[in-house]
Amino acid sequence: MVQINPAEVSRWKETYLFPNVRTYYSQPLVLVKGQGARVWDANGREYLDFFGGILTVSVGHAHPRVAEAVCRQVREMMHTSTCYLNEPMLKLARRLAEITPGRLEKCFFTNSGTEAIETAIMAACLYTGRQEVIALRHSYHGRSHLATTLTGNAAWRTAGPLPGVVHAHNAYCYRCAFGLSYPACDVACAQDIEELIRTTTTGEVAAFIAEPIQGVGGFITPPPEYFRVAVEIVRRHGGVFICDEVQTGFGRTGKYMFGIEHWGVEPDIMVFAKGLANGAPIGATIAVPEVADACTNYSISTFGGNPVSTTAALATLEVLVDGAVPEHVDRVGSLLFEGLQKLAEQYRFIGEVRGKGLMVGVELVGEDRSPAPDLTNRFMECAREEGVLVGKGGLYGNVLRIAPPMTVGEQEVAEAVDRLGCVCRRLAAGA
Ligand SMILES: Cc1ncc(COP(=O)(O)O)c(C=O)c1O
Repeated sequence: MVQINPAEVSRWKETYLFPNVRTYYSQPLVLVKGQGARVWDANGREYLDFFGGILTVSVGHAHPRVAEAVCRQVREMMHTSTCYLNEPMLKLARRLAEITPGRLEKCFFTNSGTEAIETAIMAACLYTGRQEVIALRHSYHGRSHLATTLTGNAAWRTAGPLPGVVHAHNAYCYRCAFGLSYPACDVACAQDIEELIRTTTTGEVAAFIAEPIQGVGGFITPPPEYFRVAVEIVRRHGGVFICDEVQTGFGRTGKYMFGIEHWGVEPDIMVFAKGLANGAPIGATIAVPEVADACTNYSISTFGGNPVSTTAALATLEVLVDGAVPEHVDRVGSLLFEGLQKLAEQYRFIGEVRGKGLMVGVELVGEDRSPAPDLTNRFMECAREEGVLVGKGGLYGNVLRIAPPMTVGEQEVAEAVDRLGCVCRRLAAGA
């Protein structure tokens, strides 16, 4: 096997990968090993992983229960296709029906969040016999033509958008599109969906799709009543509610298994990927029976319901439930939030700390709260030097996304906050 000289990594990337394989940092980081909330690079340097492979490594790198279950399954059978059934797939479908809220019951498995989103929109259109969909500004729903059309962020929407999708204002209180303040605003952003339906659609919408907390959008967290108001309007107009839990699912937001449970609304369709299988590729769409039963068309996903990925998911769910991980996330998430909030009190360039559980966003700003994307890039580089990996997002590229594996310990959270404090000091000193 050819060995890659670490100094040659960038050249290999440029030569052999599409340029839109975008990596963080001026010098791409090559990771070779992970254990719990820590990862190691090709030079043997250790980092605290506070992004978890984009909120995907939910119970920690190389978790022994997940690793053993996967190895066992690989030795038994790696693939069946959906022309045949396999037990892990059926068991996972049943488990998801048990743990999801409301009447969600029937699953369709795929390989990624993007495909799960496609499945959800297809189901909504088949069930309602309608074509128009409401998505949110600042959202992210994946990389296919339809998913980029749903995504409310120009940077990700390079293909000409498909017809039939309109974008409602999101509940971005820090930068309210209506210039209002919560709670006096009476969630004007949610109320505006009524006007949006009446003016930009035929009045007959198939679905409203939204993330309980917007992930790529910069962990934008709506006020508690936002979803109740928005979903009531959509349902009154005959549409179903598709909840995209790709980032918020499986305890990430603390206390509950799913982000939407904080907001007291029962979805008609839910979409999962990322954290469901601790890093094994998987996508899943679950729907209430009458919506799922409308999907009688031919549709195959060759790898969907793959026994290895579904085994990884079953083991991950066991760890999450047996270890009461959502409750743990609630506790350590508060420590993380409070630590970052203290930094916000000291450094004016931290405009807002927001989020829930272990999904904490830090919006970096200049004078007059203007977005500070360059400072955010410098923050990322300095954090890497300090040995902590965090993510980035937001329409303006100025929000740090901090989301370690959910099994992270209190000590590791304290260590990360300390290191991020060092980064703040260095930036304040002009680094
Ligand atoms: C909320 C949300 N939905 C859908 C997707 C698409 O998932 P995937 O990258 O697995 O296709 C993502 C990916 O980041 C996401 O954050």
